[in-house]
Amino acid sequence: MDTRPNAHFNDEDSNTSANPAFEQIAQARMSRRGWLQGAASVGLASSAALAVPSANAAAPTAPVKQLGFKAVGKSLADTVVVPEGYQAQVLYALGDPLNANVPAFKNDGSDTHFDQRAGDHHDGMEWFGLDAQNRPSNTFTARGLLAINHEATTDEKLSSFFLHTNGGTATLPRPAAEIDKELMIHGLSVVEVRTNGKRWSYEQSSPYNRRVTTMTPAELRGPARGSEHLITKHSTDATVCRGTLNNCGTGKTPWGTLVSGEENWFGYFHRDAQDDTRRNKDKSIQALNRYGRKAGAASRHGWESGGSDDRFARWNNGAVGASAKDDYRNEMNTFGYVVELDPYQPNSVLRKRTGLGRMGHESVSFAIPVKGQPIVAYMGDDARGEYIYKFVSKAVWDPKDAQGANRLSAGDKYLDEGTLFVARFKDDGQGEWVELSMNNPVIANSSYFEFKSNADIAIFTRLAADAVGATKMDRPEWSGVNPKNGEVYITLTNNSNRNAGNADAVNPRAYSDMKGSKENKGNVHGHIVRMAEVKPTDNNFKWDIYLFASEADANKDSINLSSLTDSNDLSSPDGLVFSPATGVCWIQTDDGAYTDKTNCMMLAALPGHVGDGGARQVKHGDKTVTTYVGKNPSAGTLKRFLVGPKGAEITGICETPDGRAIFVNIQHPGENTAMAKVNDASQFESQWPANAGYGAGQRPRSATIVITKKNGGVIGT
Ligand code: FEO
Ligand code: CA
Ligand code: CA
Repeated sequence: MDTRPNAHFNDEDSNTSANPAFEQIAQARMSRRGWLQGAASVGLASSAALAVPSANAAAPTAPVKQLGFKAVGKSLADTVVVPEGYQAQVLYALGDPLNANVPAFKNDGSDTHFDQRAGDHHDGMEWFGLDAQNRPSNTFTARGLLAINHEATTDEKLSSFFLHTNGGTATLPRPAAEIDKELMIHGLSVVEVRTNGKRWSYEQSSPYNRRVTTMTPAELRGPARGSEHLITKHSTDATVCRGTLNNCGTGKTPWGTLVSGEENWFGYFHRDAQDDTRRNKDKSIQALNRYGRKAGAASRHGWESGGSDDRFARWNNGAVGASAKDDYRNEMNTFGYVVELDPYQPNSVLRKRTGLGRMGHESVSFAIPVKGQPIVAYMGDDARGEYIYKFVSKAVWDPKDAQGANRLSAGDKYLDEGTLFVARFKDDGQGEWVELSMNNPVIANSSYFEFKSNADIAIFTRLAADAVGATKMDRPEWSGVNPKNGEVYITLTNNSNRNAGNADAVNPRAYSDMKGSKENKGNVHGHIVRMAEVKPTDNNFKWDIYLFASEADANKDSINLSSLTDSNDLSSPDGLVFSPATGVCWIQTDDGAYTDKTNCMMLAALPGHVGDGGARQVKHGDKTVTTYVGKNPSAGTLKRFLVGPKGAEITGICETPDGRAIFVNIQHPGENTAMAKVNDASQFESQWPANAGYGAGQRPRSATIVITKKNGGVIGT
């Protein structure tokens, strides 16, 4: 469980649906052997590489068979720790200018022009290679674009304290000038980076550099386009909207664009106490409550209080005008999507892909594309008791699209039409994907919520999933597809609502853990579930728990079920990415439970496959839950690779195509600093990255780092 001061913003709890938490289907347990034959037969798609002969082009990298580095220990130091033989360099931090005309970042709260500087809270990140002729390249290794999410801003009450000279204004109304900064530090970055063979740097004046903010024009695409529930004063035909918000995980499409998940957007909207009365029993009330905005809800930053200008008024989600065309009662419905961006085209318009559903999106991981078969994407909805989804495109994969020049048209082709499914886990190690569309009579005839069309399902996705009895999970975060066998891994970061009564086979642990004198309860440290399908388009899957996160000294019968040791114990797995170059599974943590013993971290894993372990019993008093646990990792197949500075979460990872440089984001170092201490560096929880020699001022900054091996070798070997 997340005990950080802002944990309530990142730990939503609005699934009060009465759907059965677990489907108890008495079904004989199938043999757990032989599952992999089908999945393993899915061939790797032909390489999307543009052949650019060059000294900088990557030679093929062999999959890593053994993790060759020495595991790093747990650390409470205010620094980035990497293994012996490795080096970490700060590359791109909050406030860094993205244009030759923007002054250097002073880092004292007085800086402006944030629409042309690095945003805050670096999160998910993808690599987009560029060759010497400015062509997209999947082999060039010395130059590329990083597309980066800027999820949020370090926050104490209403303000964003490190961003403002004296910490900002914590009472309403808030000054417009402070809000304008905050509107600009959220969103996305595209930034060009390159290496001279010795050091990496970002290019301040690259024409590819771009910031997307909460105000950037976006197009609504897919089934919800034109819906009555997306009509706003800004777009009376519900085809466009503004900005992207709380972008958490990312993905890279098979056609070479960025997809980014909007996560905790709901918290940015204000709804006054009279709004339910004004809405007069409209079904929007049920949806607003389900998505975390009860009448009377205060917004996270009070942006609606900045004045009458539209850029402030849009954050008031109340039905205050004569109709939806006169106010922003539907503005919140324009957030919560997967957004697609073409990093190679700085002027292209952001597209919100509503067909992938509206939720607290994390990453989007794509099944290995197969010619003539649909594109399949897996997604988690991060809040307590939310669900796991997959999207299956209507269009089938044409490998020529991997190299097409009009990448967003390929996005239209594969992401605007398709079918969304939600996962229902059975207690026998099997599961099913349940269709969320008007073709499903449970939804079409639902008495739980009125679904009139697939647009309603795209916008009110959580309610559709409730209606079909999806399985409530322990906060689904990132997903990743194992390139070796196509299996899907999903981190379940923790869940303070899990208890003995609702523990089930796939979320089997509920226990007590001490952090100093504080007791945390539930699934305190999280776990990682994995699913095997014979084909990604199948409606059935088999599952097991790849890994139970735990403190090494916890009880091995009830908590430390994966027998973790001091070299690989962890808490609250969040980011999860399989390296395309090496096959290493990188696991990153966003933790508040084990931070008395260690800062957040990143581990390298070489997992096996679904079914390589066995059944385990977890006791809760009189009740015994049977779960399925993967083979215990060994010291050679799961190792701690990195520990971050104080107060930081580790999130987002991508690499050069040769696997010799990895880029990692350090999010919100020092976030446990008190706002009143904002001008007293001795009181900062963290002074990173200034204490690593990067930039002016002592205020901590979220940043991208690049890690290389001192001998130039492949990372992880
Ligand atoms: Fe932004 Fe669920 O982490
Ligand atoms: Ca503990
Ligand atoms: Ca996350």
